[in-house]
Amino acid sequence: MRKLTYFVACSIDGFIGAPDGDASSMFAFLDEEFLGFLASTYPETVPTQAREPLGLKGDNLRFDTVIQGRTSYRLALDAGITSPYAHLREYVASRTLTESPDPHVEIISEDLVGRVRELKAEDGELGIWLCGGSQVAGELLDEIDELVIKTYPQVYGSGMPMFGAGFSVTDFTLESVRTFDNGALVRTYARRR
Ligand SMILES: NC(=O)c1ccc[n+]([C@@H]2O[C@H](COP(=O)([O-])OP(=O)(O)OC[C@H]3O[C@@H](n4cnc5c(N)ncnc54)[C@H](OP(=O)(O)O)[C@@H]3O)[C@@H](O)[C@H]2O)c1
Repeated sequence: MRKLTYFVACSIDGFIGAPDGDASSMFAFLDEEFLGFLASTYPETVPTQAREPLGLKGDNLRFDTVIQGRTSYRLALDAGITSPYAHLREYVASRTLTESPDPHVEIISEDLVGRVRELKAEDGELGIWLCGGSQVAGELLDEIDELVIKTYPQVYGSGMPMFGAGFSVTDFTLESVRTFDNGALVRTYARRR
């Protein structure tokens, strides 16, 4: 089985963005040390447009597939980019996009959980990156095998939760913590099954 990993950025109090989802305050922490970590450890999570400026031309290390909700994907569309992760297989969950804006992007309009289970069951060395956002992560929580949480040293007070889901306790095991000079940390958790 291939792993589904929710690799996501959040505030100290667990919000992935402002109430409207805006996560731009977190960009301030993408300094040389942090970008170096992303480039060496999770290069495929850097959008295609930013790869060349960062000197990223190599192979994917962790993921070969990305899944986004339509609202998250819209951020790229608004910037005129129809295939933000062209170096990965791209899936976008949407019931309203009747036609994909890009031949490289596959729309999942029905049975999101079933489609993700099929992707997980495929052969392959690399995993599936659940990019977010909140709604799609909430719907796919039961399928998530790993969490990689980039926490930036900011409190939001309120905002968009990491999971748009009802209350239910799910256990994870802490596997690693990496700290950065700017106060960011990256925690990796494995799902306890
Ligand atoms: N901090 C981070 O690392 C991070 C990462 C990713 C995203 N974000 C933020 O998250 C925000 C978006 O999150 P969100 O919760 O509002 O939206 P989202 O999860 O990105 O997308 C929600 C949309 O996905 C589609 N969808 C959801 N469930 C579906 C299903 N079962 N079948 C088919 N389609 C389904 C629907 O699209 P239709 O309406 O088209 O049907 C729904 O409106 C953005 O503002 C972004 O900035 C932050």
